Amino acid sequence: MSGTLPPTRSGAAHAAVLGLGAYRPRTVVPNSALVEAIDSSDEWIQQRSGIRSRRWAEPDETVQYMAVAAARDALAQSGVDHSEVDLVVVATVSHMLQTPALAPAVAHELGLDRPAAFDVSAACAGFCHGVATASDAVRGGSARNALVIGVERLSDITDRDDRGTAFIFADGAGAVVVGPSDSSGIGPVVWGSDGAQFDLIRQREDWRDVTMSDTPRMPHLVMQGNAVFRWASYEMAKIAQQTLERTGISVDDLDLFVPHQANMRIIDAMARAMKLPAHVRIARDVADQGNTSAASIPLALDRMVQEGDARSGDLALLIAFGAGLAYAAQVVRVP
Ligand code: COA
Repeated sequence: MSGTLPPTRSGAAHAAVLGLGAYRPRTVVPNSALVEAIDSSDEWIQQRSGIRSRRWAEPDETVQYMAVAAARDALAQSGVDHSEVDLVVVATVSHMLQTPALAPAVAHELGLDRPAAFDVSAACAGFCHGVATASDAVRGGSARNALVIGVERLSDITDRDDRGTAFIFADGAGAVVVGPSDSSGIGPVVWGSDGAQFDLIRQREDWRDVTMSDTPRMPHLVMQGNAVFRWASYEMAKIAQQTLERTGISVDDLDLFVPHQANMRIIDAMARAMKLPAHVRIARDVADQGNTSAASIPLALDRMVQEGDARSGDLALLIAFGAGLAYAAQVVRVP
């Protein structure tokens, strides 16, 4: 017997983002509400991070609730019928069950027709990993359309007394529908990881250590802020440049720069290193949204659309980076 199989069904010639949606939690938390616990000041936080306020979810704003809300917007904008979504990828690190994943529950609540559904754990880089996976699935023929959601409730896993993280992390959700297109709307991904720096941003203890401890407590996120800052500011600008080269465009062809919203100083350092021309509009959602990890890029793009800084057809460079350390970047056309 020969081991050959019949040829694989081929997918769409091109994939594109067809719809975008977002959910911002109701409660705005200004710096002034945090500073006493961490012996800080509004001025220090703004100067070091560019963050003025963030949103923290109320108990009813669960990861599933926020993911479904963002996905409903994205599906409505895309015009894609629910029966034609074959894949749901949820990027998150704050779904509190080890198993099952959040994606099947989200797909069910949305009324989708039993799509493939799984979570991606790539921290702040998760959304761009999801977009790359969805684009490949649509072009490879394993999904007609795919829903990619980034959602976080980082307020649950942030230590309110930790000076290095309490003012940074926040909550929210963003989503896109990825589907077939006549022309390329999602460029090639440049992605990778540096496991040698595994400990720079991480959950403090593993779940077994927590449960065996005499004083069990939530294993919060811990971060070596300075080292992360240097890595993101210098290494990620190089990845952004590689992404443009692999896509076959230059900074002059870009309309928008939508980096992960970690810190305004990192965003500015990357923009300087890339020598972005003045016409490229830069996402600065972090100022009023904080760092929402996997949700940050779709939320930032949504704000640009809402405020008229992004228009349909614009070319946006997305670049996401975080714990792992993991990163992923691609150029997309705004739906
Ligand atoms: N409020 C006031 N002062 C603070 C403070 C706070 N919340 N946190 C630290 N400080 C003080 C320190 O005690 C230190 O004081 P000293 O100079 O008298 O010793 C000084 O500020 C500098 O501390 P340092 O830890 O070096 O701060 P920093 O300049 O690196 O800024 C971050 C801290 C967290 C803002 C910065 O490292 C950062 O943004 N890193 C990247 C984080 C990030 O984006 N992570 C997400 C990636 S996905």
